[in-house]
Amino acid sequence: MTKSDFLQYAPWPSSQTLLKSLERSALITRTVIGNLSQGQEIVSISSNLNPPHWEFGHLIWFHEFWVHRCGLESNPSILSDADALFNSSGIVHDERWQVQLPPLDTLQNYFSDVIERTFTILRSGSLTPEQAYFIQLSLHHQDMHNEAFAYMWQSLAYAWPLDFDADSVAMQSLDLRPCYIDFDECLFQSGSTSQAGFIFDNEKWQHEVLVPQFSISSHAVSNKEYLTFLEAQIASGGSPSEHQPAYWKKKGDIWFERFFDQWLEIDIKAPVRHISAHNAEQYCLWRGVRLPTENELSLLMASPHADWLPSELWEWTSSTFMPFEGFSSDPYQDYSAPWFDGKHRVLKGWSSFTPNYLRRPQFRNFYLPSRSDFFCGFRTCLI
Ligand SMILES: [Fe+2]
Repeated sequence: MTKSDFLQYAPWPSSQTLLKSLERSALITRTVIGNLSQGQEIVSISSNLNPPHWEFGHLIWFHEFWVHRCGLESNPSILSDADALFNSSGIVHDERWQVQLPPLDTLQNYFSDVIERTFTILRSGSLTPEQAYFIQLSLHHQDMHNEAFAYMWQSLAYAWPLDFDADSVAMQSLDLRPCYIDFDECLFQSGSTSQAGFIFDNEKWQHEVLVPQFSISSHAVSNKEYLTFLEAQIASGGSPSEHQPAYWKKKGDIWFERFFDQWLEIDIKAPVRHISAHNAEQYCLWRGVRLPTENELSLLMASPHADWLPSELWEWTSSTFMPFEGFSSDPYQDYSAPWFDGKHRVLKGWSSFTPNYLRRPQFRNFYLPSRSDFFCGFRTCLI
């Protein structure tokens, strides 16, 4: 296929379905930004964060740029200086703290005007392949930034202003007896075809891989299991801060975990979360197990076993994020290509803040292995 691969991606959801998904996503964005107290939009410079109002402006700039400006700066934005302010490819991370952003109500009007133009297209009922692709791209991009707001709010200890189902927020109790699920050596179809609905360029293309026999845990590592490791490290002179999950603290004999703005006693049956890949690997070394590869975790997700218990967390793999054979960038060239740097790690799964349509076995997430601020955990394979 060629540079216009994205025009072949099919099928796409109905206009009505896309309208509902965009309304839902826009409501999350508006609620999160609209509920910040005065002053909370000012955050210290950090490699893991963006200034919240910059991120808000950026996600709607992205939507307008691809859906209503054909991806061309020569087609003007309805917001003056929008490209200079909000094009993430042009404004490097630290500069986002230095630019003079428009007032919040200007950004909110920009958001409403752009989304309303897309609603008008969707209400008309018929979409061209370009419109279908770029509306989905912008929707998914917004969903990913909504999830980024969740882990930013978690790291900033801000209250999360949306309701959520407590059972779905990675607090799933691991009551089932854990076991290892055996997979025989098999041929696995990794990646996606052009007929798999909306896909990202890093999924191109579907290809066959031979996956050797492996045994993978039915459940993600629990707080109880991780605590046993942590206390063993401390007993042998290790520093707690070197090994503990990102938002844990010990008071007396009790461990607590901060969830947004609340300190809660840890639920020993819940999957351990906010663990870096490095800490996950130290745990594995101690237990005599290993992290799954990308293919192993993809295979588990694509052929779910009755004993498989998803964790509502992005799960680390031991695989470096690399392009598949035949990769080429889609129009948003910075989605994948800059991150094939040999430093990023693949994660599979989803978090509680991921919409259903992104919860696909083929979806490849990627982060630096030192990160623990987002909603991540891990499961293990036998050696
Ligand atoms: Fe973005």
